[in-house]
Amino acid sequence: MARILMVASEGLPFIKSGGLADVIGSLPQELVKKGHEVRVVLPMYLKIAQNFHDEMQLEAQYTVSINYHEVPVNIWSTMRKDVKFYFVEHRGYFERDNMYGYADDGERFAYFQKAVIEMLNQLNYFPEIMHCHDWHTGMIPVMCKEGHSFDERYRNIRHVYTIHNLAYQGNFGVEMLDSCLGLDYRLYDNGNVRYDGGISFMKSGILYADKVTTVSPTYSQEILTPQFGEHLEMVLNIRKYDLWGITNGIDIEYWDPKSDPDIPYHYNKVNVKKQKEANKLALQKELGLREDPNVMLVGVVSRLTWQKGFYLMMEKLSEICAMPIQLAILGSGEASIEEKMRQLEEGNKGKIVFYNGYNDALAHRIYAASDLFFMPSLFEPCGISQLISMRYGTLPLVRETGGLKDTVTPYNEFEKSGTGFSFANYNSDEMINVMNNAVHVYYDRPEDWKILVRNAMNCDVSWERSANTYCQLYAQLHP
Ligand code: GLC
Repeated sequence: MARILMVASEGLPFIKSGGLADVIGSLPQELVKKGHEVRVVLPMYLKIAQNFHDEMQLEAQYTVSINYHEVPVNIWSTMRKDVKFYFVEHRGYFERDNMYGYADDGERFAYFQKAVIEMLNQLNYFPEIMHCHDWHTGMIPVMCKEGHSFDERYRNIRHVYTIHNLAYQGNFGVEMLDSCLGLDYRLYDNGNVRYDGGISFMKSGILYADKVTTVSPTYSQEILTPQFGEHLEMVLNIRKYDLWGITNGIDIEYWDPKSDPDIPYHYNKVNVKKQKEANKLALQKELGLREDPNVMLVGVVSRLTWQKGFYLMMEKLSEICAMPIQLAILGSGEASIEEKMRQLEEGNKGKIVFYNGYNDALAHRIYAASDLFFMPSLFEPCGISQLISMRYGTLPLVRETGGLKDTVTPYNEFEKSGTGFSFANYNSDEMINVMNNAVHVYYDRPEDWKILVRNAMNCDVSWERSANTYCQLYAQLHP
């Protein structure tokens, strides 16, 4: 059993912008159940400071050098279900309205990583394994192995680096190497951290970690190809024998239609049909949709980005509007997609509703009330919404990519098998065909629909299996 420190840029219940936060909120506690000692470190964003500061203890105060100035660091901590969470506090860098998207993001996350490295020394807490996630933490293995190579407390740490989304890489100017990260230009000259004339946090993490993982087996294969590799496929191919694809799970206690406090009518596999209709009526009332328990309700809960397949959807708006369905869309993201969704609602009052923003409780009610969950992603490292949907008896309609391919079994009308619907190519005609089929099965083959709902609800979407695989991975690094 190992001492593990997870380093990430977001995690529930403290802060969330995407699926990474779900993973950081649930995987550590599963690993604790398996006997590991797991701690997590996150930046102290404004929202975290506002909502959780009162329960935190100050653990350490020190400085790190950024741009040749000594910059203060405060480390705070609190516990969640046997997992200790640390927070790196610097009001200038992190207490802003948003988490990402600033001109100085490189400097902010260089500071974060440097603060984490020095935190180990300050607390005299040296984990056996550091498990870093996404570009914000990619330089940590480099800093341990190169910057602190003289210090065996750092040198002995083994590193796991998990890619949640290769599309965001953290590429910055080379000057940061010295001014912010305190690393030698040699690492640029020899190519180790170099990318396109600058440096890449993501590339560095991939090269320097002892093991690299991503969040589904299919995505782990896809990213070795130019189509999905985001220009890092060559680097990933170097590491392909150390690259594992481990599918995410969800917290099945939190996501449970039998007890979910955010939904009005609880249900299980036996009473799902009746109770889903009751949830549907309640949601229709809440959102101003036409009240009808028999109409097929399609849910979308998503970041509104190109990744999630919205351009495909926008190619077929008139066809979708003509279908005998209702649509409930929740999310925020690219301005052009938000605008389109607003127009869609405007022209289809009572049939289509768009909630622009992030609203966790409403997300629960959409999962519970919908019949179909729409997720035609262009690429999808794992995807979490389709797992939640299946647990809520809401059949996912997905494109067969990444984790969507690994977790959703398509309907087979002859064998009466499947847990949802899927199509292969990123092509809007294929998408519409399978949507039409889903509509047809819902209205004309209710017995088949019932079987699919039962199959979906029977799927094991928990962390159990994946947590065991992470344990095997850690055991290779720390026997
Ligand atoms: C990213 C990916 C998503 C994955 C999540 C958690 O948000 O886009 O597919 O489920 O990370 O790993």
